[in-house]
Amino acid sequence: MSFRHWRVDDQNNISTVTLDVEGANANTLSHEVLDELAKILDRLAARELEGVIIRSAKGSFIVGADVNEFRQISDSSQAADLARSGQHLLNKLAGLPFPSVAVIHGHCLGGGLELALACRYRVAREDEGTRLGLPEVRLGIHPGFAGTVRLPPLVGDFTALNLMLTGRTVSARQARAMGLVDQTVPERYLLRAAEVLIAKRPKPKRARWWRRVPPWQWLRKPLRRLVERSVRAKANPDHYPAPYRILDLWQQHASQEDEARSLGELLAGRTSRNLVRVFLLGEELKRRGKKHPHGIERVHVVGAGVMGADIAIWTASRGFAVTLQDRHPEILARAMQKAHAFYRKKLKQPRAVQEAMDRLMPDLRGDGLARADLVIEAIVENVDAKRGLFTDVEARVRPTTLLASNTSSIPLEEIATALKDPARLVGLHFFNPVAQMQLVEIVRGAQSGEDALNRARGFATALDRLPLDVKSSPGFLVNRVLMPYLIEAMKLVEEGVPLAEIDGAALDFGMPMGPIRLADTVGLDICLSVAEELSGPLNIQVPQRLRNMVAAGQLGIKSGSGFYQYDARGKPTKGGSREPRNEPITERLILRMVNESVACLREGVVADLDSIDAGMVYGTGFAPYLGGPMRYADTLGDVGIRASLDRLAEEYGQRFQPDAGWLQRELFQR
Ligand code: NAI
Repeated sequence: MSFRHWRVDDQNNISTVTLDVEGANANTLSHEVLDELAKILDRLAARELEGVIIRSAKGSFIVGADVNEFRQISDSSQAADLARSGQHLLNKLAGLPFPSVAVIHGHCLGGGLELALACRYRVAREDEGTRLGLPEVRLGIHPGFAGTVRLPPLVGDFTALNLMLTGRTVSARQARAMGLVDQTVPERYLLRAAEVLIAKRPKPKRARWWRRVPPWQWLRKPLRRLVERSVRAKANPDHYPAPYRILDLWQQHASQEDEARSLGELLAGRTSRNLVRVFLLGEELKRRGKKHPHGIERVHVVGAGVMGADIAIWTASRGFAVTLQDRHPEILARAMQKAHAFYRKKLKQPRAVQEAMDRLMPDLRGDGLARADLVIEAIVENVDAKRGLFTDVEARVRPTTLLASNTSSIPLEEIATALKDPARLVGLHFFNPVAQMQLVEIVRGAQSGEDALNRARGFATALDRLPLDVKSSPGFLVNRVLMPYLIEAMKLVEEGVPLAEIDGAALDFGMPMGPIRLADTVGLDICLSVAEELSGPLNIQVPQRLRNMVAAGQLGIKSGSGFYQYDARGKPTKGGSREPRNEPITERLILRMVNESVACLREGVVADLDSIDAGMVYGTGFAPYLGGPMRYADTLGDVGIRASLDRLAEEYGQRFQPDAGWLQRELFQR
């Protein structure tokens, strides 16, 4: 009998079961894949085999459950049933009367790792491409195919908790050290190693006794409290319940059934639904970017300041050959130091660090221009400077070289007038810090050619960033939506609300950083220049206090003083105390963002509502558990939001006037 996704081959009385999901780049555990495996296991169990090997024919073992199927879940009991049937299947695997071995290469994540955990042995390919982990918590859930039950006895309780609570992945080497896999071997020995395990049948691995915590409540309760303290510092239990559920299950030494029920509730809950949607929006941006071949190998970056250096460093770390130009040699030297520190931290292995450094060349005279496939400009935010630079650049590059600007606020069309062939210029707008912010706005000027845009999309995807199409208009999407929020926060400061109160309200809402702290981090000079750029078209009133501070050299963290005062390590001093106030702080901050999002939608800055949510979550970290500003607006209901905006407009001024887009129903069609 043949299967769509699995292949079964027998040799020497060992069955090799290979997963190769039809029509997909990577193996995921969809309904269909699991159903087929159930049939295979029933048959294998009835035979007298020496053993079974489970492996993958793709570039990775299994990347997890099929997240698309999560969207069809309507309630918690249906979701719990899903977990139960997965557990049942893996129990069959675990109960086979002969040894089973998972042969792991590439990614082995989530449900994929749970499947491997149900095997008697695990062998992993020993290279940097192999990553194992249980990232479920990032989607607002926890393992549901008995992972919470099988992992602790194998690797020890605290290691298991750490893996599940952080969702981090580990290399093959780390996995062997913690007992997650039995052996790591080079590719060519993988199957041989599995056969030897089947022949020798060593005792399956267990964590040493001192790494196991007995299931006694009097012991587990205080230990849980200890672990919970560090969880609380990272995740608000009202926003992100999953890590607390993981702790509950552990403390109660829970059964598979408890796990299934708990998973069911999480999967049907708001947080997980929104996180799953945000994840899928990111996947969609990647998918769209991947469609486009970019033909780029050599990248030349001009300007080695905050952004240029980071862009060059990141680009070289992704395998591109990069030349980095600046007018000042000392700035280039600083960028190279920064690169070295970054690669040491990220890549660790000295050889990999050296290779990345070899790909990044300081280039004072711009010699790299002649051979570059792409030039990214990241010099000062000044239109004449940028124009002058591009005229010079165009004369020195090949006719096929793609040109991009990282400008935050200058209309692309104005820069493009400096070019003989303006169609080749696009915006590649990165966010600070480049290594952390996944979004890149692909800015379409009126003159940008489709081919140039496609190459830019493809390139951003190759950088492992998420390309989002935006129209060249003031502030594009992210800064435009962010700015009214920052300005509102500054207004609250002017009204005398303590800094801690303002930032605290935003943090409580679920923002990764308060607006005042964010303004200090970005730099008040940059905030001022973006605010001024937006003040005309968006009718934003730039707070006088901001102007005064910039004039006095108070630029935020970089100058040691901004709204907060900073110590030498960049840590802020206290910003007043928090007491309950009557002021609707959160409402004022968040509704300005939501209202501006609708304005962007109405003006066609982005194509649709999903783009706004993806942009704000991946570009600013907008409360992911709420799924982005438009999803949040949808939860509140547009009638309620309009009424709130009207009320705020009456009390605080016209800036709260509901945008005309609220009344255009067609904008909200999904
Ligand atoms: P920066 O002032 O830190 O760096 C600019 C660098 O360009 C300086 O090192 C300067 O020496 C160099 N430079 C100026 N003119 C040059 C020329 N003709 N040739 C070679 N090098 C030249 O500025 P930053 O913050 O890195 O901003 C650069 C661009 O990125 C701006 O367009 C800005 O709007 C944009 N941007 C900034 C973000 C931020 O958070 N700072 C975020 C996203 C975009």
